[in-house]
Amino acid sequence: MIVYLFQLLFLWSTPHSVKQIPEDLQRGKRLMEQRCIKCHELKTVSHYSPERWEKILPKMSRKAKLSAQESSTLGSYIQWELERASRQK
Ligand code: HEC
Repeated sequence: MIVYLFQLLFLWSTPHSVKQIPEDLQRGKRLMEQRCIKCHELKTVSHYSPERWEKILPKMSRKAKLSAQESSTLGSYIQWELERASRQK
């Protein structure tokens, strides 16, 4: 019985930790969904190279009137998406 329970817990926890976006990055994703689509549609993050994002992020943060804090939260999310995309290649 105990073993069975542990197996259930294991089954529940694995897919989550693999698939889900880490908690602190969810905020960056939401910022993007809420603040960045006012003026234009958004392509996927990985459509642009990291070098492009270095220029795009500060410029678009100004346009979206993000605070420095929000901009860095969004930056972490973008970086995470880029890393995930490069792992999948
Ligand atoms: C006030 C309107 C406005 C907001 C808000 C805005 N953008 Fe933009 N965005 C533009 C305009 C205009 C362009 C095209 C001209 C340019 O690059 O300045 C653009 C272009 C882009 C591009 C393409 C850049 C390229 O070099 O091809 C990306 C990517 C982008 N925006 C991402 C974002 C992100 C991420 C946010 C949120 C932080 C955001 N935008 C918020 C107006 C906006």
